[in-house]
Amino acid sequence: MKAAVVSTFNAPPRYQDFPDPAPAGEDQIIVNVLAAGLHPRVRSQADGSHYTSTAELPLVPGIDGVGRGSDGPLRYFVLPDTTLGSMAEQTVVDTRRSIVLPEASDPVAVAAAMNPAMASWVALRQRVQFQAGQSLLILGATGNAGQMAVQIAKLLGADPIVAAGRDDARLARLPAAGATDTVPLNGEPEVVARRLGSAASDVDMVIDYLWGEPTASAMVAVITGRADRGKPLTWIEIGSVAGPTAQIPSAALRAARLTIVGSGQGSVGAREYLAELPALAEAITAGKLDIGTRTMPLADVERAWAATDATHRIVLTPHR
Ligand SMILES: NC(=O)c1ccc[n+]([C@@H]2O[C@H](COP(=O)([O-])OP(=O)(O)OC[C@H]3O[C@@H](n4cnc5c(N)ncnc54)[C@H](OP(=O)(O)O)[C@@H]3O)[C@@H](O)[C@H]2O)c1
Repeated sequence: MKAAVVSTFNAPPRYQDFPDPAPAGEDQIIVNVLAAGLHPRVRSQADGSHYTSTAELPLVPGIDGVGRGSDGPLRYFVLPDTTLGSMAEQTVVDTRRSIVLPEASDPVAVAAAMNPAMASWVALRQRVQFQAGQSLLILGATGNAGQMAVQIAKLLGADPIVAAGRDDARLARLPAAGATDTVPLNGEPEVVARRLGSAASDVDMVIDYLWGEPTASAMVAVITGRADRGKPLTWIEIGSVAGPTAQIPSAALRAARLTIVGSGQGSVGAREYLAELPALAEAITAGKLDIGTRTMPLADVERAWAATDATHRIVLTPHR
């Protein structure tokens, strides 16, 4: 079969022949892959930098996708840590890590949206005790996962929803998606800190896709401006597009009732993720969560890897 194949972590995957897969266990089936999303997590899988990487090569990247199984129905599936990912004509799926989709579902829309949507959906429903009516700051709201977080926050009843990001054009579109206020992260650090302090210092929770320096500064700004330092503040670390480490001042943890938690593979168990898949897929197929997609044939995988702009989520289609 044809697949995107990583032979060295220093170069993008190449479209080439790869051995046909074979199921190895009772619950495993062969799936014809119809759509696989090129998520940031897939890029870090393919360059060996993700924390789950075992450095084993060759590797077919892709952590999830939509396909038709040898048993008949259309499925959304999540793969375990494996060297046979979803960016191939076929892959092996454990049916227990998949859900059957309505036949009318759009495979590209589901493959594009599930990963970025799952980040905040699972965090708010499985990782913290979020309740409708609580207020949120979304840090890094202009990426695909951030834009989804705004829509999901609205769907789950957050209010107010403050969206912060550095891309002005995408930030300007977020009120239509549910943001009650927006904060540009561009400009002098003191100016950004003042904006965050005035718009978001009293929020109940922060959903953070940035980490690095922007998080360290935002945390100080939010805590410094807080009217009631005894009011709980839960900071949910989900992504690290601005840096893998952040210098958090010790005073931040002493001066306010701050709890920092992470949400991702490991801190949320496979069973908890799977429990959320049906409701999330339903919201996507019902058109309640909107994500811009760019579809490319799998044969163009090298071109797809070079396209790093976050406006659209790239979805690779192996059979088109
Ligand atoms: N833990 C989980 O369950 C989970 C699930 C999904 C995603 N994630 C993580 O969440 C993060 C975002 O994912 P995504 O799918 O939204 O990625 P994406 O679509 O590529 O978006 C990344 C965004 O980050 C912005 N950005 C980069 N550096 C920044 C900085 N220094 N300050 C402010 N904004 C910055 C980019 O803005 P520009 O366009 O201005 O560059 C872009 O809008 C990634 O780290 C991903 O691995 C985690």
